[in-house]
This record gives sequence, C-alpha cells and structure tokens, in this order.
Amino acid sequence: MPAIIAAAANRLQVDRVTVDFQGLRAVEDVDLQVSRGEILGLIGPNGAGKTTLVNVLTGFQSIAAGEVTLSGMPVTAWPAWRRARAGLARTFQNVLLFRKLSALENIEAGALAQGESRHSAHTRAREVLDWLGLSHLRSQIADTLPFGAERRIGIGRAIAARPHFLLMDEPAAGLNDAECDDLAALIRRIRTELGCGILLIEHRMSLVFELCDRVQVLDQGRTIATDVPDAVRRDARVRRAYLGETE
Ligand SMILES: Nc1ncnc2c1ncn2[C@@H]1O[C@H](COP(=O)(O)OP(=O)(O)OP(=O)(O)O)[C@@H](O)[C@H]1O
Ligand SMILES: [Mg+2]
Repeated sequence: MPAIIAAAANRLQVDRVTVDFQGLRAVEDVDLQVSRGEILGLIGPNGAGKTTLVNVLTGFQSIAAGEVTLSGMPVTAWPAWRRARAGLARTFQNVLLFRKLSALENIEAGALAQGESRHSAHTRAREVLDWLGLSHLRSQIADTLPFGAERRIGIGRAIAARPHFLLMDEPAAGLNDAECDDLAALIRRIRTELGCGILLIEHRMSLVFELCDRVQVLDQGRTIATDVPDAVRRDARVRRAYLGETE
C-alpha cells in the first residue's frame, strides 16, 4: 500500500470545518488530524468550540462547510451510528451511564451498539471490566458507583466498542489528584495496548502537557496553534488567549 494511503487509513481528520448556530459561528475553518497511536490535546477557553468539534466528528452536529474523513473514508454524510461502527467512540463531558443498570451491563451496551450478539457483548464486557481492573464492581448498579469508578465505566463502555479513535471530553473533570494520575495511566494504556488515536479535551493543563503528543488550541472557534506541548506552552498567542498571561 502506498505510504500516503496507509497514513490516511490510520487517521481521523476534519478539513476546513465551519459550524453555525443561528448567527453564532461556533467553529470556523478548523483543520484537525489525529492518527492511531497518537494523543492529540484539544484545549481552549469555555465556548471555544471544543465539544462542538467532537459532535462534528461523531456525526451529531451538521456543518456549514468542510469535510470529515475517517480511516481514509469521506464520512461527512454518514450518520453517527455508521461512524461508530467504523471505529469512532466518545466519552461525554457528563458521564451519562444507564443509571439503573449494573457496571457490566453499561459496558455491554457499548458492544451491543456495535451490533454484537448478546453473548459476545457479555463476554466482551467481562474482558473490558477485567482490563480496567474493575471486575469486583461487575454487579454494582451505576447509581451507586463512586464517581471515579463511574468515570472509568464510561470509558469502558466506549472501549467495548473496539474503537480505532476515542474522543474524550474532559475526562478529568471532578477527579481528585490520585484519580487523575490513574486516568493518565489508563489513557496511556488505551493508546499503547489498544492502539487507539485519542482526542483529549481537558482543562487540566498538567494532564494535557504530560500526555499529549501534540496540542491544538482553539479560541472563539478558530485554531490559534497546533504543535508539540512545549511549543504550545511557550506560544505568546496561546498564553494571552488561554493561559491568562499578558507577557
Ligand atoms: N446547540 C447549540 N445551540 C446554540 N449554540 C451552541 C450550541 N452548542 C454550543 N453552542 C455555542 O457554541 C459555542 C461553542 O460551544 P462548545 O460547547 O463547543 O464550547 P467548548 O469549547 O466545549 O466549551 P467548554 O470548555 O465550556 O465545554 C459556545 O458559544 C456555545 O454557547
Ligand atoms: Mg465542552
């Protein structure tokens, strides 16, 4: 396979995407790429357009202009479920578990949504719980899970779908420092053991700069920087727009 096609087959990307909400341009002319095995950080102030961009990628948000490509396929016209079956999964800013189902059943739901049979979804969910080190919580009802565990089960549900790309919207929100360290280790394992490309939206800068290969910065719907973490940290425009420094 020519190298250029092989690279595209391993990439999730948007090209020149614009999103309008009745008069408000939430995303303007944004390019973004994440490759399998890569962790891309997406940061920016509140309202910068980060979640909107995730919704564009997953197919929950229509666009005024631009293109979305998943593993070399143009998927702009594809509905969300079809993109999910082609290898795209997300976690939510609010966890959104099925509250009355057990931890295991919540993870099973991720596999069932991919069209797996009941039996194989069950097997898959047990594997994922084991992989997460949470088998002891198998039967616990989601409502009664501690917050940190609930967050991990939400990630497990996404992983159960065997994604090639995982989009994580503020996974560290509300976690304490120890839980945050555990999350960092888990994100690394998702990359190395599962080979996923990860888009990480996060306000906790220490986590972003520690984990990401590259960081893209949005401000008012536009990209103002995309670079390795150290370069982004030093970028004067980023510091002004986001890190709250005046130089
Ligand atoms: N469904 C919608 N209808 C109208 N405006 C919306 C809608 N969703 C988002 N917006 C607006 O679009 C802009 C981008 O919002 P978005 O949620 O993508 O920001 P964000 O970068 O994820 O912010 P945060 O860090 O607070 O989560 C904001 O001005 C927001 O108010
Ligand atoms: Mg958001």
